[in-house]
Amino acid sequence: MRITFLGHACFLLESSAGRVLIDPFLTGNPKAAWPASQVEADAILLTHGHEDHVGDTVSLARRLNIPVVAVAELATLLGWEGLNTCAQHIGGEHDYPFGRVKFTSATHGGGRMDEARHEVVYCGPAAGILYRAEGKTVYHLGDTGLTSDMALIGRHGVDVALVPIGGNYTMNGEDAAEAVRMIRPDCVVPMHYDTWPVIAADPQAFAAAVGETARVVVLEPGGVLSV
Ligand code: NI
Ligand code: MN
Repeated sequence: MRITFLGHACFLLESSAGRVLIDPFLTGNPKAAWPASQVEADAILLTHGHEDHVGDTVSLARRLNIPVVAVAELATLLGWEGLNTCAQHIGGEHDYPFGRVKFTSATHGGGRMDEARHEVVYCGPAAGILYRAEGKTVYHLGDTGLTSDMALIGRHGVDVALVPIGGNYTMNGEDAAEAVRMIRPDCVVPMHYDTWPVIAADPQAFAAAVGETARVVVLEPGGVLSV
């Protein structure tokens, strides 16, 4: 499997099963590796409804004519915008032609801020995603604080964990290293940091905190990890 970091929490996972794009926030993302117009994929997976994760989902799904997989509330909202959606929920898994998707719990919000109306539209709870294809399991933690649930998820046998380290909205590097000790992945890639000053973080300090627990691979936006 080929894992490309596109900046912030956006990853493209490519395997013989297909090309899956997670949390495609590219337009307006100061760390985006590619413009949305250059992205090709067979499906979009979303962890939650915040704009820095939904991002270009509507325009991408329309241009590429691909399905969007999300928790039921967010999937329903996107379905009302005319997208082809697959609704799942936390704890549930489903086999698609492009791989197996299971949603995990994450401790975070899930609303979409409607600036014009000063309303927050409920999009269901935030989630993490376990994605399995070609015999490899990737755990995208989404936005989350540290929880002991992560030890249970580690029982799935995680090859690669994509872990937020930026703090403020999610775990910082210290908590993320504690998460890695519970998940026990072979490999971990830090994400959701340095996009804005409020989530500045040092990935090398995170790597030092993880130590020998897992192989830490720090990817620059556009960087690739093959497993
Ligand atoms: Ni968020
Ligand atoms: Mn976020």
